[in-house]
Amino acid sequence: MTVSARLEETKNAILKRVSAKPRVGVVLGSGLGPFADTLEGLQKISYSELPHLPASRVLGHAGNLCFGKARGVEVVCMQGRAHFYEGHSLDSVVHGVRTMARLGVSAVLLTNAVGGLVPTWGVGDLMVVSDHLNLTGQNVLIGPNDESLGTRFPEMSEAYDPELRSIAHQIAKDKGITLREGIYAGLSGPCFETPAEVRMLQILGAHVAGMSTVQECIALRHMRVRVGALSCITNVAGGTEGNPPNHLEVEETARAKRGELQTMLEGWIEAAGRLS
Ligand code: HPA
Repeated sequence: MTVSARLEETKNAILKRVSAKPRVGVVLGSGLGPFADTLEGLQKISYSELPHLPASRVLGHAGNLCFGKARGVEVVCMQGRAHFYEGHSLDSVVHGVRTMARLGVSAVLLTNAVGGLVPTWGVGDLMVVSDHLNLTGQNVLIGPNDESLGTRFPEMSEAYDPELRSIAHQIAKDKGITLREGIYAGLSGPCFETPAEVRMLQILGAHVAGMSTVQECIALRHMRVRVGALSCITNVAGGTEGNPPNHLEVEETARAKRGELQTMLEGWIEAAGRLS
């Protein structure tokens, strides 16, 4: 079955349950899922009730596709995502965001938890992604190209939408939120980084390291959908002396920053809903 045929099946299954015409898509990363529960007129469909959407088994990733409004804008929200390191194919990993594109969204806002690589940045800081390094050794577009999705050789010169980035800075300024901007190093995981890998990533110019996002961004740019990405620095990459990183810390930091993330996302959704 082709990617397009699978997308059609997922879309039809969704439209049997909800009559949604979302303008903006949101993917909620580790510990950030509860945002979806704040949508007005919330309608939730479990991934397990839809064809081709893999459930995440990672703590903090609920596994629901959520529909509703935020600041008057129709939104589709992935409450939890599946990761490549769980053993899912990359096509499965990006199926949710491709489905959002097929539902007609003009922008997708990706959120994620990351390890910080800049010594002067704090744990708990938020960062808008300006660009990525795909260091997963994988690319979701490898294989026959589905021309109905996009071109064989998509360009990635402005993968993270400049307008969305500047809007994010404006929201942060208005709301008094510290917002960094930088480069996301996408790794396959699931190991956290070794000290040598942390030094390598710093030398390469990355500001944060994470285990999601890059393939979703690639799949969305292939389909010419605008992408914005917001990272929550949940820990120091590689940990600190005597404090190695762990998933519980990632979850806890992300949870503690939910309020700021909610504020950022609401403003971002409102502005993204006005973009064509
Ligand atoms: N490294 C990679 N991915 C992550 C980290 C990290 O330190 N923290 C949260 N996601």
